[in-house]
Amino acid sequence: MIRAYTKAEVREAVRQWKKEGLTVGLVPTMGYLHEGHASLVDKAVSMCDRVVVSDFVNPTQFGPNEDLESYPRDFERDCALLEEHGASLVFHPEPAEMYDPDAATFVEILSEMPKQLCGKTRPIHFRGVCTVVSKLFNIVNPDKAFFGQKDAQQLAIIRKMVRDMCYDIEIVGCPIIREDDGLAKSSRNTYLSEAERSAALCLSRAIFLGKDMVKNGETDAAAIKAAMTREIESEPLARIDYVECVDGSTMMPVDTITGHNLVAIAVYIGKTRLIDNFIVEGDLVQ
Ligand code: PAJ
Repeated sequence: MIRAYTKAEVREAVRQWKKEGLTVGLVPTMGYLHEGHASLVDKAVSMCDRVVVSDFVNPTQFGPNEDLESYPRDFERDCALLEEHGASLVFHPEPAEMYDPDAATFVEILSEMPKQLCGKTRPIHFRGVCTVVSKLFNIVNPDKAFFGQKDAQQLAIIRKMVRDMCYDIEIVGCPIIREDDGLAKSSRNTYLSEAERSAALCLSRAIFLGKDMVKNGETDAAAIKAAMTREIESEPLARIDYVECVDGSTMMPVDTITGHNLVAIAVYIGKTRLIDNFIVEGDLVQ
């Protein structure tokens, strides 16, 4: 596996692969990799000849009081996992390699979509995500890029950006990978104390409860949200940010579950903010 630290090194490797007629997949990450990230790499390896993984804690997507400084980092461990899963190149730039000191250009979706759900408490977050992902697309020039359903709003926003900006890149969504007890895997789970780790199970319990209700024919969003809210509130260490039923493409709230919807939650467990969701597509609950 090539370790690249500069845009030039990435471009050189990709240019060579494209000359050989090989297809290139991109998996953008912020590192501290776990099986959720690994599942994206596996999917990319199965669909592309060469797989580039970016490992970069992107400063522009963190708000002033968020966890940019404390975000966990372990590049050597990440490289070991990526080698094991067959990545061809890891791109691990310094912030200065990605952002000039006078950088002043951002990619921002101006509709209501990035203001919903996580956008309510993280107003600049998706502007930072779109900007860095757009840069990565321009540096790597991949045929396909892989994103997790874990960050469902991010996935919808990236799909919209790709359409609006005419990127010739196929976006592949990948299912949520969970711990054995149900908690969705996340780099931020490492922040949890032992007591918080068991309290965090209220998120997946609420998700499974909501899923069951939809499977059993419940279509009233208010009823689903109320039941999920009760489940989370039964956990004293939990504080709800949001419990929402939204349209799967626009992220706008819906009153009735119809078949292309997302049910998403964000919950603080102590100081740690965790997210989870499930999607309803036709009769299928995922
Ligand atoms: P990060 O949180 O590191 O996640 C990288 C990718 O892994 C995202 O597409 C995310 O949805 C996916 N992922 C994380 N946990 C997962 C899980 N349990 N199951 C399946 N997929 C999972 O998301 C980001 O980084 C950043 O915003 C980024 C897109 C890299 C831009 O900086």
